[in-house]
Amino acid sequence: MRSLVILLVVLAVAFACPSQTGFKIHQKRSIQHQGREDKPLNWLEKGLVYQIYPRSFQDSDGDGVGDLKGIISRLDHFVQLGINVIWISPIFKSPMADFGYDVSDFTDIDPIFGTIQDFTDLTAAAKSKGLKLILDMVPNHSSDEHEWFIKSVNRIDPYTDYYVWLDGDAPGVPPTNWLSVFGGPAWTFNEQRGQWYLHQFVAKQPDLNYRNPLVHEEFKNILRFWLDRGTDGFRVDAVPHLYEDPAFPDELPSGNPNADPDQYDYLIHDQITWNRPETYDVMAEFRQVLQEYEDGDGQHRAMMTEAYVPLENVIQFYGNESFRMADFPFNFALINGISNCLYYCNTTTSRGYPYNGTQLRDTIVEFLDAIPSWVGPQGANWVLGNHDQRRLASRYGEALVDGMIMVQMLLPGTPVTYYGEEISMKDQFISYEDTLDPQGCQMGPDRYEKFSRDPARTPMQWDDTFNAGFSTAAETWLPMGENYPTVNVKLQKENLVSHLNIYRTMVALRQEASVLYGAYDFPIVDADAFTLTRIRTNSTSYIVVLNVGLEGRRFNLSGVTGIPEKAKVVVRSVQATSGETQIGFTINTNDFPVGAQEGLVLSFVAL
Ligand code: NOJ
Ligand code: MG
Repeated sequence: MRSLVILLVVLAVAFACPSQTGFKIHQKRSIQHQGREDKPLNWLEKGLVYQIYPRSFQDSDGDGVGDLKGIISRLDHFVQLGINVIWISPIFKSPMADFGYDVSDFTDIDPIFGTIQDFTDLTAAAKSKGLKLILDMVPNHSSDEHEWFIKSVNRIDPYTDYYVWLDGDAPGVPPTNWLSVFGGPAWTFNEQRGQWYLHQFVAKQPDLNYRNPLVHEEFKNILRFWLDRGTDGFRVDAVPHLYEDPAFPDELPSGNPNADPDQYDYLIHDQITWNRPETYDVMAEFRQVLQEYEDGDGQHRAMMTEAYVPLENVIQFYGNESFRMADFPFNFALINGISNCLYYCNTTTSRGYPYNGTQLRDTIVEFLDAIPSWVGPQGANWVLGNHDQRRLASRYGEALVDGMIMVQMLLPGTPVTYYGEEISMKDQFISYEDTLDPQGCQMGPDRYEKFSRDPARTPMQWDDTFNAGFSTAAETWLPMGENYPTVNVKLQKENLVSHLNIYRTMVALRQEASVLYGAYDFPIVDADAFTLTRIRTNSTSYIVVLNVGLEGRRFNLSGVTGIPEKAKVVVRSVQATSGETQIGFTINTNDFPVGAQEGLVLSFVAL
C-alpha cells in the first residue's frame, strides 16, 4: 500500500513538475536586563541581515531569473534603508533541483547567476557601499552531478566514501525506513555502484559522509576559497542533518495524525538522522577557519547556523565562553514557535498565528532567557520570514506587519529580513502546474499547497512597470505577485505612509544607543496587548505598543518604569487613523488610543 502511494505521488510529480530538475503590569522580567556597553558590538550585532533569494531579486539579462549583476544594480536599496549585511542564498553551480541548494561545484558561480568575475564585482561594489556579504554554505549534501558523487559512484578514491552508501536488506528494499524531508524514501538505489545512497532531501541531493575527515577538509577549503574572495561570513544550511546514527536503525513512527506515511513528520528523527551531537564539532571546525581570517586582518567574520531544533540544542551553537562558535543560530521562534517544531512547519505543526500578546511575549522571553549570559542579549536574532516559510504578511496578516517590524527592530539582537518583507509582499497563489519547488512537487496535487515554498519566492516587486521592474523576460521563473501594481518599492518610497518608510525609520531607530545597549522590558502584556521598552538613562528611549487584538483600545502607561507623562509618537502602522496619535504629536502616556492590530512607537527621555 505504502509503495502504491509513493508510486502515485511519483507519477503525479512526473506529470506536473517535468522541468524540475485585561491590563496587567508584567513582573516576570525586570528592567535590569541591560545590554552590554562594556563590549563593543561587531558589525553583525549592530547590523541587520537582509536575505536575498538571488533567483528572485533582480534579473539583468532578461532570462527571467535574477542574477549577480542584478543584485549589483540594486545595492543602493540597502544603503537607502540603512541595511549593512546581505546574505545571498546559494549562487554556486547547480542543476537547480532545489534551486541552488543542490550544488555541483562549490567553488564556481552558476552561469544563471553570472561568473566569478561578477562575484568579484559584487564584492567590490558591496564593500564600496559599506555592505557586508554573507554566502550560503551547504555542507550536508551536494548535487548528484558534483564530480565527487560521480567519482564516488565509480568507487574512485578518495571519493569512494564521500557519501553515505549502504547495501539494502534485500533487492529493492532500502537499508532503513528513513524518509526525506521533502517526502518519500531517503534512499535511492544506484545501479552502477549497486548500493543505496542517502539523501535527506531530494534524490538529486546525496548526503555527504561526515564520518569521513576528508569531507571536513573539503568544506574548510571551500570556506577559505570564498573568504579569500572577500566574503564576510556564511549562513550554514541544514546543520542538524549532517550526521546519522552509525548503526543505521529504523526510525519510530511519530504518531502525528497529520502526517501521511511518506511524509517526513511521520517518523521521529531525533538523534538518528537529525540533531546529533557531532554536528557541533563540525561547526567548531568551520569557526576555526573563520578565526584564521579574523586573526589575519582583525575583521570579524560571521557564521549563522540554520537549525530547526529544540531551543536547548539551538543555543548550543553559540559554543561556550572560551570558544564562541556561531555568531548566532537562527531564531525561528517568531515563525514556528520554539518548542517541538521539527522542520519546515508551514502549517500543521506550528503554534498557530498570529500570536496573542502573552504568547508573543513568552516566545520572545523564552529565547532571550536561553541565551547564555556570556553572549548577552545583543547575540539574539529575530527572523520573521525566509525562503522556506510563508511570508510574514500571509502568516500574521498585513495589518500586523508594521507592528511586528517595530517589535523586531526594537528587540535586542540582530533583525533578519527576508526580501520583500520591507514592502509587505505576500505569498502568491501558484497552481500545481506552475509549481517548481521539489517540496511541493513531491507531495502531489492534493497536498502541494501545504508544502510548496514557491508562493514566498516570487520576484521582488520594485515598481509598477512590466514584471515589477524585476525582469524584461516575457515569463519570469515564478509568476509575479499579482499585487505588484500597488505593492512595490517605488510607490512605497513616494508614499510617506508606507510599510517601506516604517521599515526605514525602524532600521534607523535600531542604531540609537537605547536600542543597541539599553535595558528592555515588556511592561504591559495581555491577550491583546504587547509592549516593549528600550530604556537608557539620559538617552532618547522608546516603547512599542502593539495592539494585537481585533478592536481598538486605549492604553495607560502610568506606573511603567521610566515612562514620563508625555511622549512623542515616532512611528505608527500604515492603517492608523486616530487624530490623537499622528506622527510627531506629543501624547499623554496615561491615555491614548491604539487601533486594531496597530503598532505605535513612542519616544521619551527616560525618567
Ligand atoms: C534548508 C534550506 O533553507 C532549504 O531551502 C533547502 O531546501 C534545504 N535546506 C536543503 O538544502
Ligand atoms: Mg538573469
